[in-house]
Amino acid sequence: METAITLDELRQARKNLPAPLGLVPTMGYLHEGHLSLVRAARRECASVVVSIFVNPTQFGPQEDFDRYPRDLPRDLALLEAEGVDLVWTPTPQGMYPEGYQTWVTVEKVAAPLEGAMRPGHFRGVATVVVKLFNAVQPDRAYFGQKDAQQALVIRRLVADLNFPLEVVVCPTVREPDGLAMSSRNIYLNPQERRAATVLYCALTAAQAAYQAGERNADRLRQAMEAVLAREPLARPQYVSCARLDDLQEWQGEVSGPALLSLAVFIGGTRLIDNLVLGGEL
Ligand code: PAJ
Repeated sequence: METAITLDELRQARKNLPAPLGLVPTMGYLHEGHLSLVRAARRECASVVVSIFVNPTQFGPQEDFDRYPRDLPRDLALLEAEGVDLVWTPTPQGMYPEGYQTWVTVEKVAAPLEGAMRPGHFRGVATVVVKLFNAVQPDRAYFGQKDAQQALVIRRLVADLNFPLEVVVCPTVREPDGLAMSSRNIYLNPQERRAATVLYCALTAAQAAYQAGERNADRLRQAMEAVLAREPLARPQYVSCARLDDLQEWQGEVSGPALLSLAVFIGGTRLIDNLVLGGEL
């Protein structure tokens, strides 16, 4: 397994990698969710590149950039064991040198939900992902359904900016009790960790109602809210039942594919999760 830090090193190492090339962008502190993307890329591509970069521009000023967990030696060992060909670990200075001033903004699909709660977040994500795509030039790029809106934003920018690559979205990997794996789960104390299962419980309650025939969007949102209300450690930020294609909230009857999604504070930790009804990402 090769590693690169500078753009020159990345480009040099990239030259020797056979097509098709799969890229898995990450912020590191890898877990089974990330590794499921790496395994999908390994199955489907002749070469696999993983980037590890805690991207400062997608964190708000009050967010957890400084304390975001990092463990590069462990990440490299995990990726080596998965048979990854090349790991790129750029530095903030390398990505955003003095004088940097170019940004990528995706409009409508980035506006609601995470975009509304985290101003500037998707501008940072879209910009860094475009820079990763330009540098690595992958044939396929792998993302997780865990961050469903992010995947939709990236699909949009790939289409709009004519990137010659396929965006592959892989299923959310969960702990045995349903909690979606996330690098941020490390912030939870044991009591909060138990409470955090409420996100998936809320989603599955609404999914069960949908499967039993409920199509009223308000009642599906209420099914999630009712479960969240029973957990004293949970402070919901949003609960959504939106059209899967443009993320506009369903009003009245849900008559097409829907994304159920929520963001909930458990203590000081903000967690997100989602499920798709009647379709797939
Ligand atoms: P990060 O949070 O490290 O996630 C990297 C990729 O792993 C994303 O595509 C994310 O959706 C996926 N992922 C995370 N948890 C998952 C889970 N439990 N199951 C399946 N996939 C999961 O997302 C980012 O980094 C950044 O925004 C990035 C795209 C790298 C741009 O900086």
